[in-house]
Amino acid sequence: MTEAEAANRLMRIAKNVARHNRLYHTLDTPEISDADYDALIRENNALEAEFPHLVRTDSPNAAVGAIGASNLSKITHAKAMLSLDNAFSGDDVADFVARVRRFLNLADDVPVVLTAEPKIDGLSCSLRYVDGALIQAATRGDGSVGEDVTANVATIADIPSHLRSSRAQPRDGAADDGVSTSLDTNGFGFPHIFEIRGEIYMAKADFEALNARAEADGTKPFANPRNAAAGSLRQKDPTVTASRPLRFLAHGWGDVSALPADTQYGVMKAIEGWGLPVDPRFIRTETVEDTLTHYAAIETQRAELPFDIDGVVYKVDRLDWQERLGFVTKAPRWAIAHKFPAERAETTLLSIDIQVGRTGKLTPVGRLKPVTVGGVVVSNVTLHNCDEIARLGVRPGDRVLVQRAGDVIPQIAENLTRDVEREIWTFPDHCPECASEAVAEEGEVDVRCTGGLICPAQRIERLKHFVSRAALDIQSVGEERIQRLYNEGLIETPADIFRLRQHRDTMLRWKGWGGALSEKQKQHNDTSVDKMLDEIDRNRHPDSGRFLFALGIRHIGAASAKQLAREIGDIHNFPNKAAQLLAIKNSFFREENESAGKFERRIKEAVKSVLPINDLGPTVAFALADFFHEEHNRNVWEAILKEIKPETPVSLVKSSSVTGKVVVFTGKLEMMSRDEAKAQAEALGARTSASVSAKTDLIVAGPGAGANLKKAESLGITVIDESAWLSIVKGADDE
Ligand code: IVH
Repeated sequence: MTEAEAANRLMRIAKNVARHNRLYHTLDTPEISDADYDALIRENNALEAEFPHLVRTDSPNAAVGAIGASNLSKITHAKAMLSLDNAFSGDDVADFVARVRRFLNLADDVPVVLTAEPKIDGLSCSLRYVDGALIQAATRGDGSVGEDVTANVATIADIPSHLRSSRAQPRDGAADDGVSTSLDTNGFGFPHIFEIRGEIYMAKADFEALNARAEADGTKPFANPRNAAAGSLRQKDPTVTASRPLRFLAHGWGDVSALPADTQYGVMKAIEGWGLPVDPRFIRTETVEDTLTHYAAIETQRAELPFDIDGVVYKVDRLDWQERLGFVTKAPRWAIAHKFPAERAETTLLSIDIQVGRTGKLTPVGRLKPVTVGGVVVSNVTLHNCDEIARLGVRPGDRVLVQRAGDVIPQIAENLTRDVEREIWTFPDHCPECASEAVAEEGEVDVRCTGGLICPAQRIERLKHFVSRAALDIQSVGEERIQRLYNEGLIETPADIFRLRQHRDTMLRWKGWGGALSEKQKQHNDTSVDKMLDEIDRNRHPDSGRFLFALGIRHIGAASAKQLAREIGDIHNFPNKAAQLLAIKNSFFREENESAGKFERRIKEAVKSVLPINDLGPTVAFALADFFHEEHNRNVWEAILKEIKPETPVSLVKSSSVTGKVVVFTGKLEMMSRDEAKAQAEALGARTSASVSAKTDLIVAGPGAGANLKKAESLGITVIDESAWLSIVKGADDE
């Protein structure tokens, strides 16, 4: 694959993944299976590994799931709750261990001990214990901000309100599991502050019973145990949670004042000793072979386990190594989830419908004769695009093999009807919503409606995106309300949402909003319109990253919007920055004999001079430029800024003497790998570069440093050695 093709493919994957994240986490209407999603991520990661300089700021690796529904209050996690990278084969697991070795610079004969335990298909929760008392429980949310579920969690029997003192407890294997009670700070046998993290789930049998009851009561059953657990936990009324059989299994920790051991295994055993359940299949392994044997054993038990699992999680046992390995944006380098393969079933494809998205993309959706796949009834599948339909050769009426993994909308794995004569299904060349022509741009598979803003489907989808959870998160203006408000002519652009108060009387007259039949209902609906207007008002000072994302600018996903907002700061600087970027875009041409790679690097440098964000791709930067270049977009921007005042988020980076500086590592590093050094620099808000230039602020030189060191000396740049670097890193930690 050429570099340009790779860049194009990475761009499309990023866009697709962002969309599927939104469908899954925010809209609860996933369109692809876990396996398909994972395949996209794998393809992305392979390309990123091959072309590291093409890694995008909106790379799928830069985003975590968005905050979910409900009106529970928000809690900022003292330590971010992250997600896990996936492995799909024994080779992937061996690669993981090899990466760990390389990063830590370990000799071949040093064993990398891992812990291995089931990956529970539930929802993660952080339990904060202070002096042994449970004082707060929060869901993961988007990783940095979750929801307060303290009252609900208090009803779960597996979760003790007080930790059991381990002081008097005899401990098995204390000599070699690294458990020590000497670290406790209060004489109880546990640290002053300890956040226990784990999975809240519903047992399969309890889920069946709950659904049987729902059926008897005529209420809507849950699709699977995970949804049932999520729905039961995230309740305003804790008595509802109390009536649902939720369970908990601990798998880690967050913010802590001290640790009771220096290994993953040891700390988990201590947590178990304090009275929280840890899965009995949690073990330690020394070799990849042993690890895979344990995986196979758990996979064999999968069907008989009382709860759903979707893989096995491995973690580096030594905590000092975990600390050094650290994180890559959304997932730790020291852990990985080894996923089970997807489940399949056979059924008939009844018809193919077309849905029109926010960017005008036409997505074919297959309607199926309902079939049970791995315990879940499936009646829709995404068919992605015309290539996918051609690849499968599917036509309405065909028998198909449907595949699902996790609780994402499944996909067709295979068409079983190949030899029957039937008309080929052809992709529409006009938008089913506005009848405009639908075409694929050159080099693109996706067919898009060319109607732009005249297409009602696109306008509505953009409005829905604006209020969606990963964007402005105005929950009382849901998808249905957007549709109605649009149909009634009350809203056309985002700014109109903030002017809805002037239509209060109109909305109160609508059936189901304010014009309900009984007085009681009427009262309810009156408050519902007012509640909505109040919530809209409360969102007049949104986080500027979310606001930027909400505008739905092509190529600018939630993660890159956040980075741009942090870097650019005051929202009023955006048009100016965009103009500078446009000037770069328009003045850069590939020189004769210049390689594509060199050209890209040159553009990247130029972009960096305007927006100094590590790895900011030109695609994202130029998308911002293009957006502001269009007059109608500037109008939308100005109109909305008359209604709201977005605020710049604070930086998460630790401050130190190198924050904002450009650092070059050169020569041999003796105490760490180059990757570890770079990761440390980035955590301190510094940028790293491979070669010295006038922009370099600091050189960390080891033995054997050559040309870079000479150049630095001639430019008068500060040069330090590895141990001086380590004291800068340490100094920042102590702040
Ligand atoms: S460890 C730093 N261990 O899977 C990452 N996670 O896909 C800590 N999960 O958000 C996660 N079982 O909710 C870990 N045994 C296990 C798990 C587990 C389920 C969930 C967890 C996490 C998600 C990542």
